[in-house]
Amino acid sequence: MPNFMKTYPRVSDLEKRAYRRLPPFVGAYLFSGTSQNQARDESINDYSTIKLFPRYMRGRVPTDLSCDFMGTAFHAPFSVAPIGLSSLIWPGSEVALAKAAAKAGYGYALSTVAGASVEQVGPAAGDKGFFQLYAPNDRALAIDLMKRAKEAGFTKLILTTDVPAPSRREEMRIAGAPIGSRSESSPTLRVLMQSALHPSWSLAALAHGGKFRFRNLEPYAPPELLANITQFIASQINGSLTWDYLDELRGLWDGPMLLKGPLHYDDCKRALDAGLDGLILSNHGGRQLDCAPSPVSQLPKLRKQLGKNVILATDSGLRSGLDIARAIALGADFCFLGRAFLMGVAALGNKGAHHVGEVLIEELSNTMIQLGVETIAELKEVDSAHLFS
Ligand SMILES: Cc1cc2nc3c(=O)[nH]c(=O)nc-3n(C[C@H](O)[C@H](O)[C@H](O)COP(=O)(O)O)c2cc1C
Repeated sequence: MPNFMKTYPRVSDLEKRAYRRLPPFVGAYLFSGTSQNQARDESINDYSTIKLFPRYMRGRVPTDLSCDFMGTAFHAPFSVAPIGLSSLIWPGSEVALAKAAAKAGYGYALSTVAGASVEQVGPAAGDKGFFQLYAPNDRALAIDLMKRAKEAGFTKLILTTDVPAPSRREEMRIAGAPIGSRSESSPTLRVLMQSALHPSWSLAALAHGGKFRFRNLEPYAPPELLANITQFIASQINGSLTWDYLDELRGLWDGPMLLKGPLHYDDCKRALDAGLDGLILSNHGGRQLDCAPSPVSQLPKLRKQLGKNVILATDSGLRSGLDIARAIALGADFCFLGRAFLMGVAALGNKGAHHVGEVLIEELSNTMIQLGVETIAELKEVDSAHLFS
């Protein structure tokens, strides 16, 4: 097994290789934000403005990264974020990442629109799995999908609120991705050329059947739409989530449930009043609204307004264990990372699925030693300096 830690000791070391190995239309899907990419870039850059104050003379502290989140014991306070089309980015990545997460004791969240199904990923993720739901128009579909997720072993549900409609995906258009066209299900010549020029990706795709699948949703597509499944998905997932529907879904899921995407206090409060167990502050990695604030910039204020007992996670822009430490010191209980993990499999293939988790754990542990704290509870109390009011 190659020593990835020597060659790629940081997530940022994987980025160039990931870009090189992916066909441009896939790279644009993974990396791009929306519009001018301001929300994406600010969400990353805001982390670098946060300073934490170390405390010395405590000797060499042993670190314990474990935490309880939503009633599950995790060995580290983070999870792979839900990523739609993960198998397009790297074929087979859902199961590979879920297995790596379960082995190391961090979380894995499976998207409604991933390539692999709840039945394939649930057993791999074990008790560290989250199932992410995009509320479909059809209530019967929602009920059946949640039932399947439960039966496959998912106990924690993430309901995503921040996609009222797809964003314009400018960079995907420029890269030739076949979105919003009639030929969405059959590759264009440009896509075929890009694939041929990126053989490691194409070979991995061929080894996984050569055809992209949406296995969670395929059973519900009427036969005439199976050939163009994206049309069926677009008809189901198109901004149908309202507060009334959220109330219904809360009643239908008898386990911990998080709302992913709120950034405004009133939305956070309304979700908690509806009985949701916690929140994931998110701007979807800057992929939806380019003037959305970075979640970490809202974290100190929302933590103060909501109180210390509310379960609050965050995502968007985290690229290191140091960023995880910063988020926790500013009020997060738990973090989700999307592109960091997908860059790992894009750069190293599924045999590298464990690598990003190992980097994050090593970085977080070392950061805690440098700060002089032993536990995640102590990390929450570390003094910080930041620009956010
Ligand atoms: C390629 C890609 C696909 C995504 N698909 C989904 C999805 O299906 N469901 C969802 O709730 N969020 C989705 N997200 C958002 C992520 O869950 C997460 O909020 C975001 O990646 C966090 O930002 P980061 O990539 O900077 O870590 C996606 C993000 C990316 C980059």
